[in-house]
Amino acid sequence: MKKHLSRLLWLCCLFGFSCNAEEAINEARALFNYQMLCQGCHVGDGTGGKDVPNLQGAVGVFLNSTAGREYLIKVPGAANSALNSKDLAELMNWMIPVMGKDSVPDDFVPYTEQEVETLRQEPLMEVVEHRAKVLNQILTNSTSATTIN
Ligand code: HEC
Repeated sequence: MKKHLSRLLWLCCLFGFSCNAEEAINEARALFNYQMLCQGCHVGDGTGGKDVPNLQGAVGVFLNSTAGREYLIKVPGAANSALNSKDLAELMNWMIPVMGKDSVPDDFVPYTEQEVETLRQEPLMEVVEHRAKVLNQILTNSTSATTIN
């Protein structure tokens, strides 16, 4: 009986460990993926440029609505990237707090691989119009003085 119990505990540890390991962010890999696939447009620190929005202190604002949370994955640069959904989830979960800083709500729940996998299969049409609509909804519902451009 005791033997069974310890084996069960061991299995639980193993399972628990592998689950945690899967969710953990490998910062070096996330940064590498950002540099390879996103930086070309978003530039190294995420400040963007002509036609590419600034992510610094800003990208977290979208997390204030479900449509906004979905937008961050459906946006073509993310959804159509060469990354698999696990690595894309990791990249977003790393990038959002590192670049979004104070714009990220305290209750931000990291994206899961499954969530990313589902969302990226519904590509956005009229991205610029959609972005403006989502932002407008968030900002009219919010009392914060956050501005985003
Ligand atoms: C070819 C240029 C380009 C590349 C490469 C690119 N993006 Fe973007 N990204 C944009 C543009 C432009 C927008 C604004 C929305 C639009 O028009 O698509 C945007 C918007 C975003 C947004 C929403 C921010 C906002 O304020 O609208 C996120 C999040 C994002 N990109 C993530 C990424 C990630 C992650 C990668 C790399 C895997 C990436 N992008 C690669 C050009 C790019």
